[in-house]
Amino acid sequence: MNIRYEDNKWKEKMRVKLDVNNMFEEFIGEKHGLKPKEVDEMIEEINKADENIKKQYKEGKLGFIDLPDKQDEVVEEIKDYADKNKDQFDNFVILGIGGSALGSIALQTALNDSYHNEKESKPNIYVPDNVDPDNFKSLLETLNLEKTIFNVISKSGTTPETMSLFMIAKKAVEDEIGSKNISKHFIATTSKNSGYLREIAKKEDFKMFYIPDNVGGRFSVLTPVGLVFAAFAGIDIDELLAGAKYMKDICSRSDVWVNPAYLNGVLQYLAYKKGKVMSVMMPYSNALKDMADWYRQLWAESLGKEENRYGEVVNVGPTPIKALGATDQHSQAQLYMEGPFDKVINFIEVLEFDNDLKIPDIYEDIKGVSYLRNKSLSELINTEKKATELALTKRQRLNNTIILPKVNEFTIGQLLYFLELQTALVGELFNINAYNQPGVELGKNYTYGVFGRDGYEDMKNEYNLRPDKKDDYII
Ligand code: PA5
Repeated sequence: MNIRYEDNKWKEKMRVKLDVNNMFEEFIGEKHGLKPKEVDEMIEEINKADENIKKQYKEGKLGFIDLPDKQDEVVEEIKDYADKNKDQFDNFVILGIGGSALGSIALQTALNDSYHNEKESKPNIYVPDNVDPDNFKSLLETLNLEKTIFNVISKSGTTPETMSLFMIAKKAVEDEIGSKNISKHFIATTSKNSGYLREIAKKEDFKMFYIPDNVGGRFSVLTPVGLVFAAFAGIDIDELLAGAKYMKDICSRSDVWVNPAYLNGVLQYLAYKKGKVMSVMMPYSNALKDMADWYRQLWAESLGKEENRYGEVVNVGPTPIKALGATDQHSQAQLYMEGPFDKVINFIEVLEFDNDLKIPDIYEDIKGVSYLRNKSLSELINTEKKATELALTKRQRLNNTIILPKVNEFTIGQLLYFLELQTALVGELFNINAYNQPGVELGKNYTYGVFGRDGYEDMKNEYNLRPDKKDDYII
């Protein structure tokens, strides 16, 4: 069998590229544009950041770097398990949140048909990614639970949202089919070494897949977190990983000018330092709209930090914003064009869509629409992208474009790895720990306290002693 991602010509044709012309003063103008020399002046810092990444990798901390090419055994296990089991189920549901859900949502939107669940192809895919009672009740009532498999994903194995959904789903499945065959309806994807989900899964005899301890949630899409789902959803995981590996090789170049993750990272950093503190990701492709959501979490949780590595208060982090072209030209573009000079617009352009639609040769006599005749929707969406890009550039708004020749497993693998490595580099340039999320702990701990979890009594007291809100301000 011919494997297309082993063909060098095909790979080169499918290479994801980065166009940063419109980040520079030559195109944007002196006031807001960056100078190539500013990148060159960063060389020492970039080298130091690169050394730090390599050092942490050697210490076994940055497991995401190994995912493209060092998990053959688990990949075989996943494919084998999916092959043996997927025909038994009509529905595949992910119970997970944040980094345990967003990568799978992004893969599903990118690589399966827009209306996958409405078509014949099984299994249908559902990722509630929240504890909204209306939403989850409706889902459980909609699905034939006898034909449903749940992948419960939590690296920590403690996340209350995920564990609550799991407990509700387990009871619902038991009510439907009895407790005898329950285990085949659940997979647990969690840490090999710790956590309550692991404990429960062992007790219940669920199939288990493991998330490497050195891969954080938001960097975990290429672990079993995303791969088990992908195998069930008919996504080619070998090609996905081959794409990631291709980008890993491209991004191992030490010269920043030919390393897309590093070049974009350093430009984002320089832009931030010049007050462009918002980072918009705007794909002109519905398939990539949830990629922007995944990126939003990656960028926000990794880079939004109070302290640097020396413990100094720095309060850094670009605010990621997701947008969709051409849709948001009718919603956000006005702000991007004329609002504050505080944004970098990161476009994603797809050169060739899988399908196209020709606009029919009708209404020749109506001048306001006749110019559309015989054009195609792909021409329209890509012309709109280029037109918006030019308009932003004319208005001195920094922008760049990630170019995907097509949307397929190989290009999506490249895109995921590229954005992860870019995030790692920017974290180093800010001199912060991009892999923790101390800011989300406090809110979580209050919830534990209120719910009476052992060990969180102080949090409960603090919560109860919170200042009363004034009625005057609630109108
Ligand atoms: O990126 C992260 O680390 C987080 O967003 C986690 O993925 C999220 O909080 C869910 O955690 P867990 O997988 O432990 O349930």
